[in-house]
Amino acid sequence: MTHSPDHPNLLDVEIRDLSHEGDGIGQSEGRIVFVGGALPGERVETRLVGGSRGMLRGELRTLHQASPERRQPPCILAADCGGCSLQHWSDPAQAQWKEQKVQQSLNRLGGISLEVEPILAAEAVLGYRNRAIIPIQWGPNGFKAGFYRRHSHDVVNMNHCLVLDPRLDELIAPLKEDLEATGWAPYNEESRTGVLRHLVLRIGANSGEILLGLVVRDASLDEATVLAEEWMERWPQVVGVVLNHQPKPTNTLLGPHNQLLAGRPWLLERFADRTFQIGLDTFFQVHTAQAERLIPLLRQHLALQPGQVLLDGFCGIGTLSLPLLSPGVRLIGIEQQASSVERARDNARLNGLEQAEFVAGGVDQRLGEWLPMADALLLDPPRKGLSESLCTAIASEAPARVAYVSCNPATLARDLQRLTATGQLKLESVQPLDFFPQTSHCEALALLVSSAG
Ligand SMILES: C[S@@+](CC[C@H](N)C(=O)[O-])C[C@H]1O[C@@H](n2cnc3c(N)ncnc32)[C@H](O)[C@@H]1O
Repeated sequence: MTHSPDHPNLLDVEIRDLSHEGDGIGQSEGRIVFVGGALPGERVETRLVGGSRGMLRGELRTLHQASPERRQPPCILAADCGGCSLQHWSDPAQAQWKEQKVQQSLNRLGGISLEVEPILAAEAVLGYRNRAIIPIQWGPNGFKAGFYRRHSHDVVNMNHCLVLDPRLDELIAPLKEDLEATGWAPYNEESRTGVLRHLVLRIGANSGEILLGLVVRDASLDEATVLAEEWMERWPQVVGVVLNHQPKPTNTLLGPHNQLLAGRPWLLERFADRTFQIGLDTFFQVHTAQAERLIPLLRQHLALQPGQVLLDGFCGIGTLSLPLLSPGVRLIGIEQQASSVERARDNARLNGLEQAEFVAGGVDQRLGEWLPMADALLLDPPRKGLSESLCTAIASEAPARVAYVSCNPATLARDLQRLTATGQLKLESVQPLDFFPQTSHCEALALLVSSAG
């Protein structure tokens, strides 16, 4: 790294890695410099735009030496839109970096020396997302809908999103046009005025069914029913339109109350040979084809036999555990979101899986009751991972087989260290998977067994 004598704000930096948000990371006199848009192996001139004493933030000004894996981003908005952070990097380089990221996290954060499996890269690297939650704003030029500019809450107006399923993508522009024509005011985060907060689009990638949603600050949009009915008539693939109320002035995207405007409040999807109802606010993996690749891996490791019990913490609507059930295998799923528990129960019934039971509540509070009877344990927590006390409880109970699906290599590494600390659970393998091409997010599946055999 060198300073330019004439311009103290300009630095030459060598980029060594990427942050979890996809910014290039270099070093300058002991301080870390984050440079948006820069790639590992590159030498760049950056203009400092902020940061604190231990950490600087810079903009990419000049590429002195470009990565051979740099490419023209497929999307014209890639440099501005914060939805994707890695479109300017080749697909194999992205996948390779994600594999290394999982490996390094295990080594450095978890103190685990196991070598991870080669990453399962995605075949569909564009057009894969089955869901979009698109913020709506007023801009100087009028109505805007799109994703936030990086590190900001300023919406970059868009009509097309290349990572979104094309069957949803083609609806964005006409939906925006209709919403603008209503005259409903977009929500303003600062003044906390306006009504329209987000447009939600969801598709069953295998079924083609589409569910639409509008997130509003209050519930006073009676005219929305007319619009919803019009949309269902115009697009037969739309099976329902839902109004979601989010009155809170927070970053939480969806509120707890849903009001059905037209059709039904869920779409039907086929996933791993089972049928699922997916609601507007229930979790479902965004890359359906990649998520389906988990099922044979889980089936093989958990090796469930008649008479055995599978315990699924963080079960959502039962997406990963219902496909694992065969006659005589019992399932206990634990989930804190009430609407997901309702959907999970419906999904079990829909598939004739009466041996599945779903418990409403927090994993920290409820898992302990069921742990002693579990032959196999499946965990798929949100990014923050597991609590320390939960890891301790699982490590001492040590079910025969454990599978941990993670979307955050750092918390996975921390939790694996805790889960294996007593030696009663042994880590067998870690499989990285790319569930989020064009972004820096990474999924991994860790498989553990009880050392008691
Ligand atoms: C990453 S999703 C996984 C869901 C499911 N395994 C799937 O693949 O569709 C995590 C789920 O855990 C739920 N959840 C988050 N924190 C929880 C907690 N403390 N206790 C129980 N469920 C929780 C969320 O509502 C969400 O449905």
